[in-house]
Order: sequence, then structure tokens, then C-alpha cells
Amino acid sequence: MSHSTLTVLAADRLAALAGFYAEHLTLRPRFTGAGRWARRVLSGPDHEAWLLAWLPGQGTELHDHGGTRTPAAAALTVVSGSLTEYQVVPGDFPGLRRKEFETGEVSTVDDRTVHAMRNESDRPAVSLHVYSPGLEAMRAYQFDETGLAPVRIMRAGEDW
Ligand SMILES: [Fe+2]
Repeated sequence: MSHSTLTVLAADRLAALAGFYAEHLTLRPRFTGAGRWARRVLSGPDHEAWLLAWLPGQGTELHDHGGTRTPAAAALTVVSGSLTEYQVVPGDFPGLRRKEFETGEVSTVDDRTVHAMRNESDRPAVSLHVYSPGLEAMRAYQFDETGLAPVRIMRAGEDW
């Protein structure tokens, strides 16, 4: 393996890691009214893990895990509560697929997926996310009747 090549772990590996870290969590999540709470709990050579906490109504915009150079594949597992994911179904006429994830369930996305996560329940939710490679940047998207358009890039260390 070349040292200049970043490894993107396969979906089943990411899902297994998310489950493992969720089981072995020592960090307690915090909930803040200012927005979803996020902490990196592990940083490795080919992946990193984040703990997120969501009050009812909190969520993300539509985003990818893209960097300009190293987009990340990801898996998340719901540690407590439930979360709703909206995933863009690409194509000439892109659509949004909505799916709910209950405690213990896992969602995986590849390094091209555009999605949003929201806590649409009336209880707090906690989730554990694994990104491979580590998350450098996310691109936020606007999605309306004219289609899907990138609106902003958010970078690790600056925007989260
Ligand atoms: Fe995401």
C-alpha cells in the first residue's frame, strides 16, 4: 500500500467500528440548545469517530463528507433515541429518501452521498459516527425544484 493513498474503509467495516465504539463509549454526551453537540472521540490513520448529541429539532443541513481531495465514507449508529436521515437519490430528477433510525440501528453512506440527519422525535438522541478517511470538510447543499446545488464548504477545525 502506498503511503500517499488514503484508505477508505468498506461499509461493513465502518458499521462494525461504529457499533464497537458505541458499545465502549466512556465520554458522556452533552446537549446544548445552540445546536447539535459533537466531539471527536478517536482519530486513527484511516478513520475517526465522533459522538454527536441532538435535542429534538436539531439537525444538519444537506451535506456531503467531501473534501475537495478526500471525501469520506461514513457509518453512524444511534446510541439512544432516534434520528431521521434524508438522503439525496441522485439522477436527472433527484429526490429525497427519508428513513428513520432507532437505537442500535446503523446507517452507512459512501463518499459521494449527500444527506441530512435530524432529530425529529420528542426526545434527545445520541449517535456515534465513523468517517473514513477522517472528515476534512463538508459541503452544504441547497435542494429545491431547480435541483441540488452546493452552497458552502465547512472545514474541520474552523466550522466544527
Ligand atoms: Fe453526514
